[in-house]
Amino acid sequence: MASACSHGGIYSVDHRLVRVDCSSSVNPLGAPKKAITVIKNGASSLAPLYPDPECRDLKKSLARHLETDISRITVGNGAVEIIHWFAQAFAKRRVVIPAPTFCEYELASQRAGAHVMFVPLAPDFSLGASTVIDAAKGADAVFLCNPNNPTGLLATGEIKKIIKNADSSTRILLDECFIELADGTTDTLVKMAPDHDNLVVLRSLTKSHGLAGLRLGYSVSSPEVTEKLSAFRVPWNVNGLAQAAGVAAISDRAHLTKTVRFVKKEKTFLYNKIKKMRSFAPLASDANYFLVKLNGRNSTEFRDALLIKSGVLVRDCSTFTGMGSQHVRIAVKTHRENLILQKALERMDDGKAS
Ligand SMILES: Cc1ncc(COP(=O)(O)O)c(C=O)c1O
Repeated sequence: MASACSHGGIYSVDHRLVRVDCSSSVNPLGAPKKAITVIKNGASSLAPLYPDPECRDLKKSLARHLETDISRITVGNGAVEIIHWFAQAFAKRRVVIPAPTFCEYELASQRAGAHVMFVPLAPDFSLGASTVIDAAKGADAVFLCNPNNPTGLLATGEIKKIIKNADSSTRILLDECFIELADGTTDTLVKMAPDHDNLVVLRSLTKSHGLAGLRLGYSVSSPEVTEKLSAFRVPWNVNGLAQAAGVAAISDRAHLTKTVRFVKKEKTFLYNKIKKMRSFAPLASDANYFLVKLNGRNSTEFRDALLIKSGVLVRDCSTFTGMGSQHVRIAVKTHRENLILQKALERMDDGKAS
């Protein structure tokens, strides 16, 4: 039987309690204005129409943006849909997954009938290429996440080594869904896809462009692999508003640039504030979220206590395979929301709200 896979977000708890959601790591500045305008203007014209099942305009925009060919792009109802296509297409017998990481890789592989072999990250959560390369020998697929969720760490050098050294028959899903909000946005390995027919690079507009509610993800791979992935697509899988909003969002590069600068500043602010608290140890991260170690407290109990006392929701990381029960993950939000989180954590630190 496939394992459960838990996510954060306000519906992971009693959503009426949530005042500030620091559990979902989406763009703190929201969707670009251009995308919102397109959604508003398109409501009456696009809602009654069947969308383009091939997402042609969106693929054209993505191809231009990524400097690649349309035949290499597939578009999903969120990146998560493509993870499941990938597993259905390639995860037959055995897959390799460094842990802890995003749980959908495990769930999708198990649903496809594959055995999951976890490769534990080092105690500092770094990824070692050689152990993954060894484990991947004879495997159908490897799932990699850069920056990783929940750790927020980039491992671009090690991932390059894995891609270069893995058997060509082993498919690699490289999840870059958070890379556009990371400190090292130039770390993307999309450019490696044309030279590695076994590589699928996965991206999403839900986090970086604040379109989580519309659901929009895409991948870049060889035309042959793209066709294999698309074979699992249901007709009209991406709705018309999402397609139009995606085109508008990609064209607004200034919004992303502004977000990356903003996230960096706010992450430093929050990290430094939390570092001063006795009960918590923030961990360095390259992403728009970071882990906080709770000194001696259980993460599920802590999440619930913080939510009830302050209306602030953090991600309990105990549901990540290999993570233990002493970490929560915090997403960087607007400054006002970050201040609410800071005060709420300070009250927990003083013991006033424990
Ligand atoms: C690493 C990672 N990849 C993919 C996804 C799913 O993205 P989407 O919202 O585009 O389906 C998530 C969602 O949390 C994620 O954390």
